Amino acid sequence: MNFVGNHIISVGQFNRLAADRVFEVADSMQPYAMRKNITRVLQGAILSNMFFEPSTRTRVSFGSAFNLLGGEVRETTEVKASSLAKGESLYDTARVLSGYSDVIVMRHPESGSVAEFAEASRVPVINGGDGPNEHPSQALLDLYTMRTEMAASGQSIDGLKIALIGDLKFGRAVHSLCKLLCLYDSIQLNLISPPELALPDDVLDLLKAANHTINIFHDMAEGIQGVDILYVTRTQEERFPSQQEADKYKGLFRLNQAIYTENCAPNTVIMHPLPRDSRAQAQELDDDLNQNPNLAIFRQTDNGMLIRMALFALVLDVVNEVDKNAQPVTWYTARRHLPI
Ligand code: NCD
Repeated sequence: MNFVGNHIISVGQFNRLAADRVFEVADSMQPYAMRKNITRVLQGAILSNMFFEPSTRTRVSFGSAFNLLGGEVRETTEVKASSLAKGESLYDTARVLSGYSDVIVMRHPESGSVAEFAEASRVPVINGGDGPNEHPSQALLDLYTMRTEMAASGQSIDGLKIALIGDLKFGRAVHSLCKLLCLYDSIQLNLISPPELALPDDVLDLLKAANHTINIFHDMAEGIQGVDILYVTRTQEERFPSQQEADKYKGLFRLNQAIYTENCAPNTVIMHPLPRDSRAQAQELDDDLNQNPNLAIFRQTDNGMLIRMALFALVLDVVNEVDKNAQPVTWYTARRHLPI
């Protein structure tokens, strides 16, 4: 896969070598993300960060990743604040914005919208999530997290046993993660969801074609036995025809410390793409797990910064320049002393 100047729309573009390359560059970004060093390698470059759906992590970490490489960020965060609200097409918006920026990150509620936008863009476009379809940077950071978390016990991604829990129908993070896992060998996936929110057939078929072991469960305690990783997700309420419909599925699967202790080996890693829904009727990942050392959710979000820095460096072809003009950070930074 050639990264330079290319769009990143789907994890389908990646082979194993390309994923490894992203992880290797992400590793090299650690001193900058930890505020040990600064680099200005993207000085003068402009990112247009276009988020037409709610976002905290993806938007801010893409923006901060660009800033950490020395670039500037312009943001639009609502359809109603852009000319899309005046009936402008994605084509026209892309033609215009790509004249103002060096790279664009876009999130949009419709499947395929970012690909359509990218076709008209004159600069590289990175998919920040297109409806229920895909979320490639999330899948890369999830896989990177699995790799780092499992390294402690000498295990690689090949042969992992993973439980995917929750709304597997609408969760784009799950869809992209499953597709990326097809690049690896002998994965066991325990798919735990209500029957109505099962993983879509096209994604399931890809997992089967990769010869992975698939087990389907509708009971969480049964499905989480014997796995290495629990990947919990939120009911994607914004994708349901009505709030009432979405509410039917909230709180059906709730992971807490007692359930974890009863059913999981003590070193089982807990992940979630976040946001977790902490409202009383949902709580798919209880706050009582916050002190559990295997709760990897905030290491996951920290890793998101490394992965997004790596994607920018690869697409804009500055990987070999990053360290050249690096300087030590001179201000006091608590960030550097925090455990991750
Ligand atoms: C995910 C998303 O937007 O798809 N969030 C994220 O980007 N980390 C998952 C979600 O919203 O549930």
